[in-house]
Amino acid sequence: MPFYHRLGNLPAKRHVQFRQPDGSLYREQVMGTKGFSGIQSILYHIHPPTQVREARFLRDWTVPLEEEGANRHRHFLTFEAPKGKDPIEGRVHWLVNEDVAIATANPTETMPYFFRNSDGDEILFVHEGEGVLETIFGDLPYRPGDYLVIPVGTTYRLNMKSEQTRLLVIETTGEITPPRRYQNEVGQLMEHSPYCERDIRVPKKLQTHEEKGTFEIRVKARNRLHAYLYDFHPFDVVGWDGYLYPWAFNIEDFEPITGSIHQPPPVHQTFAGPNFVVCSFVPRMYDYHPLAIPAPYYHSNVNSDEVLYYVKGNFMSRKGINEGSITLHPSGIPHGPHPGKMEASIGKTRTEELAVMVDTFRPLRVTKAALSYEVAEYMASWLPEETEG
Ligand SMILES: [Fe+2]
Repeated sequence: MPFYHRLGNLPAKRHVQFRQPDGSLYREQVMGTKGFSGIQSILYHIHPPTQVREARFLRDWTVPLEEEGANRHRHFLTFEAPKGKDPIEGRVHWLVNEDVAIATANPTETMPYFFRNSDGDEILFVHEGEGVLETIFGDLPYRPGDYLVIPVGTTYRLNMKSEQTRLLVIETTGEITPPRRYQNEVGQLMEHSPYCERDIRVPKKLQTHEEKGTFEIRVKARNRLHAYLYDFHPFDVVGWDGYLYPWAFNIEDFEPITGSIHQPPPVHQTFAGPNFVVCSFVPRMYDYHPLAIPAPYYHSNVNSDEVLYYVKGNFMSRKGINEGSITLHPSGIPHGPHPGKMEASIGKTRTEELAVMVDTFRPLRVTKAALSYEVAEYMASWLPEETEG
């Protein structure tokens, strides 16, 4: 996050002697992005983070993709995918490209290991469930509606505290930030931003573990999954400071931008990623011009693919959409409200819809796994309904 934060104990200056009670040095680690010219944090460990007992290759992270047919609108029912496994192994990938992978997880098992994504930042959107995102930077309690933004290289474990956990996972190959246009020259969120720093939750409690044993960290790097075994608990940090750390923003804290006529999709933008954006469609007042049509116009996202993940509420422009549905409206063909939805929206004053949108600037590919949960007739759902007899 582009504001400074610190937790625990730190020496007065960076890169100077900082000693443990037994007189030995704490082990300073600089986590820097973009070749140490991007955001970074400095952490102080009890043990050298380089002491790896064993390194193993586990598996490729890449998932098989479908044979591409006609470019068309797609609809997948993510709630139909089987629940199970842990928050990492339980991920089902639906749509992927060179910049981003969109997955869901409905995990039932705890993580017996720690995880680190070294390829890029991740967002975990909590559809259902409560718990604590335990990280090397400290604990971040989470609740439904939270976007958990986990920067590249963050070692973490999801400690689920509710029976049901449903996550939308956005894996990236770069950095997640608030939209630049909402930030001033030093990164502060300005008055026209739909959220501000007060809405952002940061780790408040640093748990320092001085435990010996065998601890596994699974690391996604170069789109492959590896396991590293250590003789000490990876959360052995006594203090850290900097700009690189996980943070949470709840979708309920997104203050919608509304107008007298239909507002364009960028008003919903919440985050920027490498070649994609994340938007939040939240409960809001509809357009108030006397002749306004609250449902959107037909539109061609001419050179981007549009993905919607439906969280709850009645989505104003669609029919046949369920909670947990993912739709893909790819570049190349226009899309828009279903028949009758424009007329039905006239005169309505408010929507309770809640959805997360990911617009990618490079084409997405559909995974093989997604095909088992596809609503094949979705493309035909804009045709006029035929009457019998
Ligand atoms: Fe759209």
